[in-house]
Amino acid sequence: MGRLAGKIAIVTGAASGIGAASARLFADEGAQVLAVDRPESGIATAHAGKTAIAPFAADITDDDAPRKIVEAALAKFGALDILFNNAGVSGRAFVEEMTDAEWDRVNGVNVRGMFRLCREAIPALKRRAKEKGRARIVNTASVMAFDTDYGLAAYCASKAGVGGLTRTLALELGKFNITANYVCPGAIYTGMTQTNFDKPEIREVWEKKAALRRLGQPIDIARGALLLASDEADFITGHELVVDGGLTLRT
Ligand SMILES: NC(=O)c1ccc[n+]([C@@H]2O[C@H](COP(=O)([O-])OP(=O)(O)OC[C@H]3O[C@@H](n4cnc5c(N)ncnc54)[C@H](O)[C@@H]3O)[C@@H](O)[C@H]2O)c1
Repeated sequence: MGRLAGKIAIVTGAASGIGAASARLFADEGAQVLAVDRPESGIATAHAGKTAIAPFAADITDDDAPRKIVEAALAKFGALDILFNNAGVSGRAFVEEMTDAEWDRVNGVNVRGMFRLCREAIPALKRRAKEKGRARIVNTASVMAFDTDYGLAAYCASKAGVGGLTRTLALELGKFNITANYVCPGAIYTGMTQTNFDKPEIREVWEKKAALRRLGQPIDIARGALLLASDEADFITGHELVVDGGLTLRT
């Protein structure tokens, strides 16, 4: 039996990197997955051949996207057990030079879009938790929720925001048997980081920083998300799960 047998999940950012690996792992563990990503991301074909994964093209920042996404999951699969909010964007600019547009772009996807999808999904998660005894929210933050680097003010603020949002969700939803937790990936080789990590001199620096002496792969984070999404995590809520190979162990 798979660890998510009989579950229905929404995974955002599912065309690439961590989201794509998570959609596949969740499906391999028995879940039916609505795999959400931007229309231009290739989501339509990213999981071709996987019958348990239904692609859904949406930009999560669109006004009506949360409603459409939750409606699609309910229409296709009839319920919702797991919301994995993973879509995210990065960008670098010093605060002194950062435009309002850049701040809003990063925070709009990483935290506002996440908040709006959580809000929309809560009634369906409550119904499922009442019926089955549990439901799950898992959010992707970053080690940048508690760490920083030059030019990452918008990104760090957004990821710290994910932490605050998720802990509050955990507090508010606990009495309904809905858990809310977040994963904090370290340096992971994905679409977001590929250009940098394909440069050997940059890759080596980040490999050396991690206690485990390697970059993370999307599957490393997907496994963390799977734990938080599974029944095994019944008493884990409001938790920050750092999955970084020991990147942030020392200064
Ligand atoms: N790669 C890393 O080192 C790293 C480290 C810490 C945290 N993260 C976080 O992990 C998450 C996944 O990123 P990844 O590294 O797999 O990158 P990625 O670029 O490979 O995947 C991100 C996906 O999110 C999608 N997306 C972006 N904006 C969207 C929107 N408005 N609506 C719908 N989909 C949207 C993209 O199209 C893309 O497919 C992000 O939240 C990111 O901040 C990544």
